[in-house]
Parts: sequence; C-alpha cells; structure tokens
Amino acid sequence: MDGAVLVTGGLGYIGSHACVELVRAGRRVVALDSLANSSAAVAERLAELTGRPLSFVHGDVRDIGLLIRVMREHGVDSVLHFAGSKAVGESVGRPVAYYDNNVGGSMALIAAMHGAGVRRLIFSSSATVYARGGAMPLVESSALDAGSPYGRSKLFVEQMLFDLRASDPAWSIACLRYFNPVGAHPSGRIGESPRGVPNNLVPFIAQVASGQRERLQVFGGDYDTADGTGVRDYVHVLDIAEGHVRALDYLERDGGGCVAVNLGTGQGVSVLEMLREYERASGRPVPYAVAPRRAGDVARCWADASLAQRLFDWRARRSVAQMCEDSWRWQCANPDGYR
Ligand code: NAD
Ligand code: WQD
Repeated sequence: MDGAVLVTGGLGYIGSHACVELVRAGRRVVALDSLANSSAAVAERLAELTGRPLSFVHGDVRDIGLLIRVMREHGVDSVLHFAGSKAVGESVGRPVAYYDNNVGGSMALIAAMHGAGVRRLIFSSSATVYARGGAMPLVESSALDAGSPYGRSKLFVEQMLFDLRASDPAWSIACLRYFNPVGAHPSGRIGESPRGVPNNLVPFIAQVASGQRERLQVFGGDYDTADGTGVRDYVHVLDIAEGHVRALDYLERDGGGCVAVNLGTGQGVSVLEMLREYERASGRPVPYAVAPRRAGDVARCWADASLAQRLFDWRARRSVAQMCEDSWRWQCANPDGYR
C-alpha cells in the first residue's frame, strides 16, 4: 500500500468521509473535485480532522490529461470514483447531462487510468440498479433494471467495468452498491450539504427539526408495510466510508476480478420510524403530513449485506440512533451546510 489513492468527488458527502477513513487507515490521499456539488471549505475541514494538509486538485474527472498528470505526480495506484451527479428526479429532466457526467466521466477516468498504468478501481454504484418489485432482501444476483436515467448511468458503468475486466485481467474492480447513506462525521465538521430543498428523507427531517421547514411530507401512507410508509436500508456514511477502506484492502489482497457488492445494514426502517428516532435524537418535534406517493418510489428496499461481510470482513456497525444523533450534530453546527 505504498501508492496514493485518488478520490474523485473527494469533497462530496460520501467522498469526504472516505478521505477521513483512508487517512486514518494510513493511506496517502489525493482528492479531485470540480466543486459542482461541494465546497472548497471541505478541504480545510478534512485537513483539520486528519491533522495533515489534504492534497486537493480542483478539476473535472472528464479531463483525461489532468487525471493522467495527477496520477503520475502523486504516484497513485488505486482510485475511488465518487464523482458524479446523483439526483434521480433531476436525471429524468436532464438525461444527457447525467450520461455525460456519470458515464462519460467514468469512461474518461478509465482512459486516464489506462494511460497512467493504474488498474485498481472502486466505483460508487447504488441500490437503484436493482429491478423494482423483487423479493427482499436484495442480493447481488437479484434482477437488475434501473428505473431512471441516473440509475441506468450507474448500471451502464457497472456493465462496462465487468466487460473491461473480462477483456484485461490486470484490472481489479469493486462496484459498491450503497443503499441509503445518512448521518455525518461525529465531529459535526463534515456532512451532507444539499442545495435547495433536500430530496432525501434525513436531510429534510433535519431541516424540519431545526425549524427551517415547517413539516415533512411523508410520501405515501398506504404502502404494504407495517405502518404504511416506505421502508429503506439507511446506513451510516462512516460505515460506508469504512466499507471502501475494507474493499480496497480486499482488492490489494485478493487481486483481480470485478465484483459488485451491497453496502447496507440489512435492516429496513420506515419513514415514521426514522422520524421518531430523529425526534428522540434531537429532542425536537418533527411535524409531518401524509402526502401522495412519490413517483418511482418502491414500498420496500433493503440489502442482504452478507457478501460484504464475506469478502471484505465489513459490516455496518452504527445504529439508526447514531445516524440521527450525528446528522443532528452536523445540522446544529452548520444550519446552512458549507454556505
Ligand atoms: P455528492 O454530490 O455529495 O458528491 C459527488 C462529488 O463529485 C461532489 O463533490 C461534486 O462536486 C463532484 N463532482 C461531480 N461531477 C464531477 C466531475 N465531473 N468532476 C469532478 N468532480 C465532480 O454525492 P454523494 O452523495 O457523496 O455521492 C457520491 C457518489 O455515490 C455518487 O457517484 C453517487 O451517485 C453515489 N451514490 C450516492 C448515494 C447517496 O444516497 N448519497 C447512494 C448511492 C450512490
Ligand atoms: C427515503 C424514503 C421516500 C423524502 C434515493 C435514490 C437512490 C439513492 C439513495 C443514489 C422513501 C420517503 C423522502 C421526503 C418522504 N441515491 N421520503 N418525504 O428514494 O430510497 O433513494 O437516495 O444512488 O438512488 O433514489 O431515498 O431519502 O429520497 O427516500 O416521505 O421528503 O423517504 O418516499 O420512502 P430513496 P430518499
């Protein structure tokens, strides 16, 4: 583990937590980010949290020349690829922009890795690649069929990476399918900083608890679940970050292959259960109203997380209470995110 790790999207929500965990594990890190959905302030906070300056490159992952230079200059031997666009709803209105950034960005990265002689890659995939309506829990061999341009961009990249590995055994690749990452670093210094109205449940609840929004709209109260609200597999962002460190160890230890692996807890939690847990953690009421179902939502979605345990010796350790406590600490210390 002499080489450095290039973290694309390293100032984003999950990438920034991964940087902290990589440095903690003794890795040399170079973060690259276009700041399309993040702030330069994150680099300073990462330096503060890790006790050393962060090597940060402001640039676009589609800039092949820049990527080759960065990998050569820093002696990179592995890449964690978080950079991309991630809003499912937005991807329906701007599909080509999503394919450009997510598929085009991954293709450019692969070309640059090829040019720099780097062959170890961890790709940020998503539970959204699984077909709707299948049996729970989702195993890695469950049917795949993403329901949005965003999801398809993830699926295309996964398939491209499998084809790449089949064509050239020098590559070792892990596609990590995250379920619902939530929470923040327990220091309250880094966390999720959505622009505008949050799309996701926990950031929205955080803004209701803090009084920035009046009430949560619960999208659907008539699902076939215990309390009628949607059930998801929420997983602490630091557990996700640790999963990357373990996956990298695995790729170094066991060498080749291309694997797709779920990162989740294996536990389903409903919208109302999450809301109650957040009320407990924050000591604040979270008013809500039941609204119509959101288009494209499924009733239930959770992981079988046993493959990650088997291959990486990883499992999510943090509870739903910790997810809410850490989200709340971040929210109170940074009511406007990084702005
Ligand atoms: P994020 O938006 O916070 O982080 C992505 C980072 O990539 C941002 O800092 C952004 O500025 C940067 N970026 C975007 N396009 C870029 C480009 N062309 N060049 C360089 N940098 C670029 O999102 P996140 O929640 O941290 O997600 C990270 C990855 O994980 C994404 O690929 C996302 O699709 C995937 N993912 C996220 C979730 C989730 O719920 N957050 C779930 C599953 C998968
Ligand atoms: C969770 C639950 C909503 C907001 C999304 C992406 C997925 C992945 C993770 C990237 C659902 C309900 C939400 C609100 C609500 N991202 N909800 N009121 O939809 O499971 O997954 O993020 O890869 O691809 O689709 O997460 O947090 O939006 O919703 O009632 O204001 O909360 O209906 O049941 P989702 P979410």
